[in-house]
Amino acid sequence: MAVLGIDIGGSGIKGALVDLDAGDFLGERHRIKTPEKSTPSAVAEVMLELVRHFQYDGPIGCGFPAVIRDGVACSAANIDQKWIGTNADQLFSESTGNPVYTLNDADAAGLAEMTYGVGREQQRGVVLMLTLGTGIGTALFLDGKLLPNTELGHVEIRGKDAERRASDAARKKKGLTFYQWSERLQEVLDTYEKLFSPDVIIVGGGVSKHADEFLPLLKTRAVLKPAYLRNKAGTIGAAVYARQRSTAD
Ligand code: BGC
Repeated sequence: MAVLGIDIGGSGIKGALVDLDAGDFLGERHRIKTPEKSTPSAVAEVMLELVRHFQYDGPIGCGFPAVIRDGVACSAANIDQKWIGTNADQLFSESTGNPVYTLNDADAAGLAEMTYGVGREQQRGVVLMLTLGTGIGTALFLDGKLLPNTELGHVEIRGKDAERRASDAARKKKGLTFYQWSERLQEVLDTYEKLFSPDVIIVGGGVSKHADEFLPLLKTRAVLKPAYLRNKAGTIGAAVYARQRSTAD
C-alpha cells in the first residue's frame, strides 16, 4: 500500500509516496522550500502543490513541528504564530481534497523508527527518539506505544530551551565543531536520562548522517543509536500514521 507522507519542517516541506510494506519511499521525494511566512494558508498551498505533484488521491499523513492535539496545532516554536489554534487536519483536508491526518513531526519520525528502523527490535521498555534539526524534537515510547507531544526540546538548560543551545541549527549558527556541540548535547541527554531513564535513545534528524562524528563523543546509560531511516523517518512515519488513522475511522 502506498500512502503520501509529508514532513513539514522549518526550512523544507518534503513529500513522498511511502510503500508501507517496505517501509521506504516509492520513487523520489519532492521538496518545496517552506514559505518565508509559514502561515497556515501559505503552508496549505504547498500541501496542494505536493498532492498535485504526486497526482495523489487517498489518505495523507503530515508531520508538523508543533504540539498537535486532535489535529489542532497548540504551539508554534519554529513556525508562524498564526498556527496556534489552527485545525491543521481540517485546513489541509480542505486544501488538498483528501483526508489529512496531522501529528507532531518527531512523533512521526519515532513511529517510523519503531515500525521499520532501530526501534523495531525494541518493543519493550522506554525508547526516546530525538530529531536534531531546526529544533529538538522528541518522541517517547513505552513498550512500543507512543506518548505524544513530549516537547523535550523546550526543557530548560542553563536558562535556555535545550533546542536553542543544542539543535543542529544552533550548531550551524554558532559555528560549533562536532566536539563543541557534543558537549552541549551531552547536557541535554543527561537531563533526559535523569527524567526518563530510557533504555534506548535514537538520534535522528538530518545531522544523523554525521553520526560517526559525534555519537562516539557522547556517554549515556541508555544504548545510543543513530536513526536508521535518517531524514526519511518523518515522512515515512507520517504515512504510517495516516494508515493507522484512516483504517480506524
Ligand atoms: C517544536 C516541536 C518539534 C521540534 C522539531 C520544536 O521547536 O516545539 O513540536 O517537534 O521543534 O521540529
